[in-house]
Amino acid sequence: MATPYGSIGSVQKDDSAESDDVFRNEYKRYKAKDPAPKLDEVIDFGASRNKKVIPVEIDPKNITDQESLTRLGLLHPSEWRVFGLEGFLGFLFILNPWRRGSQRYWVTRCLRDFPCKPNVTNLDKLQHGVDNVWKEGYSEYRNYRLQGKGKKTQPKTLLHKLRWTTLGYHYDWDKKEYHQERYTEFPPDLSQLSTHVAQTLGFPHYKPESAIVNYYGLDSQLGGHVDHQELDYSKPIISFSFGQTAIFLLGGKTKSVKPTAMFLQNGDIMVMSGDTRLAYHGVPKILKPPIVGQLPEGLCEDERRERLHDSMLPSAMEETWEQSALFMEECRINITVRQVVAEGKGFGKRSCDDELQTEPKRTKEAQGS
Ligand code: OGA
Ligand code: MN
Repeated sequence: MATPYGSIGSVQKDDSAESDDVFRNEYKRYKAKDPAPKLDEVIDFGASRNKKVIPVEIDPKNITDQESLTRLGLLHPSEWRVFGLEGFLGFLFILNPWRRGSQRYWVTRCLRDFPCKPNVTNLDKLQHGVDNVWKEGYSEYRNYRLQGKGKKTQPKTLLHKLRWTTLGYHYDWDKKEYHQERYTEFPPDLSQLSTHVAQTLGFPHYKPESAIVNYYGLDSQLGGHVDHQELDYSKPIISFSFGQTAIFLLGGKTKSVKPTAMFLQNGDIMVMSGDTRLAYHGVPKILKPPIVGQLPEGLCEDERRERLHDSMLPSAMEETWEQSALFMEECRINITVRQVVAEGKGFGKRSCDDELQTEPKRTKEAQGS
C-alpha cells in the first residue's frame, strides 16, 4: 500500500513513488519500441468519436481582425474546428486551421531564421559558436540524407543536433528563471499570429514575450514537465505543431493523474490555460510517417500549385522550400508561445521558486549530444 512516505512493508525507498508516477508509466508505455504501443486510446481530434471531446463554438465577438488572420495564413475562424476535453478546463484544440500551403511559411521561419543569433539555441553550448545553423549545416545534412540512407553508423550532422531555440525572454535552464536582461526582440510575425489566435479564442490583451521552438527527430521525446517558470499563469500557453505527428500526453497537477494521450499533427494549435495551464505534459513519441519520407498533407509539394497571393510567403521561400521539405521528412517542430510578465508588473519572484522545473529531458536519437 502506498503512503505519502513510502510503501508499507517495504524497505526499499521510493518504489511507491514510482508506482504512483502514473504519468511516467504511461510515458514509458507510449515511448516503447518493443512492444510498440497500441494507439487506439490516443485521441485523434480529426476523427474522434471519443466522448471526452467537446466541440467548442468561437464567440463571433472575438473575431475582430479577419484580414490579419488571413494574412498570417489562417482560415476564417468560422471554419475552425475547435474542441475542448472533458476534465481539462482551459484546454483548447484547434484542428489544423491553416489555409492551404501557408504552414510552409512558419516552418521556414523555424528552420532558417529563428535559430540565428541573437536568439539562443542548444548549440550555443558547443565549443565552436553556431550563428546560423541552417546556413552552416544544411549541405552537410543534405549529403548525409542523400548518401547515408541505411548506414546507421554514420555520425549525425550539426543540423540533427538542433533541439531548441528560444525567442524573446530566453529561459535560463540553469537558474530556472527568465531574466529581464536576457531578452531579444520577439519576432513580430509570430507575435501577431499568437495575439490574433489568443484574441479569437477569448484571450484579449495577450502579450507574446517568450517562445521555445522544439525540433524533434523521429526518435526524439520531451520528458514530462510543467511550465511554471512564467510569472503570470492567468495567460495561456499557445502551442503550434508542424511536420510529423506527435503523441502528446496531458496529465493533471500531479504525476499520479493518468494522462490523456492525443495526436498533435501538422498545423494543429493547442492552448493550455486555466486549470490546464499547470498540468504535466510531455511528448513520448514522434510517429514515423506511413511511407518513408512522406510529408504531411499541408506541407507536401502539391500545395505549391495553390499560391496564396495575399499571404506572407515570399516567392524566394517557395524556391528554397525543397530544402526545408527534405528536413521536414524527418522532423517535427513545436512552438510554444508564452506571456512571461503579468501586465503592469515587473520581474518579481514567485513564492514557489524552489519547485521550479529543470530543463525537461529532451532525447534525440541514441548518439545525440
Ligand atoms: C514545451 C512543450 C510540447 C510539444 O516546449 O514546453 O511542452 O508539443 N512542448 O512539443
Ligand atoms: Mn511544456
